[in-house]
Amino acid sequence: MEREIIRTKDGSTTIHIKDWDECYHSKHGAIQEAQHVFIKNGLALYQNQSVSILEIGFGTGLNAFITYLESKKLDLEINYVGVEAYPVSISELSAMNYVSELNADDKNAIFNLFHESNWEEKVVIDPFFTITKRQQFFEEITDCEQYDLIYFDAFGYRVQPDLWSTSIFKKMHTALRPGGKLVTYAARGVVKRSMIEVGFTVEKLPGPPGKREMFRATKYK
Ligand SMILES: C[S@@+](CC[C@H](N)C(=O)[O-])C[C@H]1O[C@@H](n2cnc3c(N)ncnc32)[C@H](O)[C@@H]1O
Repeated sequence: MEREIIRTKDGSTTIHIKDWDECYHSKHGAIQEAQHVFIKNGLALYQNQSVSILEIGFGTGLNAFITYLESKKLDLEINYVGVEAYPVSISELSAMNYVSELNADDKNAIFNLFHESNWEEKVVIDPFFTITKRQQFFEEITDCEQYDLIYFDAFGYRVQPDLWSTSIFKKMHTALRPGGKLVTYAARGVVKRSMIEVGFTVEKLPGPPGKREMFRATKYK
């Protein structure tokens, strides 16, 4: 499918899939969306502890990189697992401007290391951050009670409805430890119903710029 790099409203880049008219991030601001959905409403619930994170859709590595930066402020030890079936090409990655937009030029090597590290290998970035990229379809995930937090960042229901179904959310529920949480930018009724059907308790929260709402789901048992 034909792809192009575009700039979102906060100045940060994303990839636009022309045939689907679908982006890797919100057109209203890729960085703003990641900060709001995954950090403010997800990662920031934890402080001074270890957190295991599963990312559904590693893509450009933006969420992983912001998590790295924020984990230092929150004094967290992170075990990060990113699942992705279709790795983003080196040329597209080099067109992403996240390091400079996040004023993190001194961490450029970390962003590159995320992408240069081997797939299927647990890589120690520093004593408080490990990352494992898994090239895998979401449909094949079988992890059981491994994670505290899931960043559910699949393409939208409009273009990939099967990824928002009970069969996928059941896998997410199984992958979380009791008390674990899943955050996503989505806020459709059909998505909420699938989450509830597999056992999640779902909160509707204010969305990032340009979106009214988003969901946070919790596994209580
Ligand atoms: C919205 S993008 C993720 C954006 C990413 N979190 C980031 O920060 O750049 C969705 C990702 O899911 C991947 N994907 C789509 N269908 C998939 C599937 N069935 N299994 C695994 N990955 C899939 C895409 O290749 C894409 O990278």
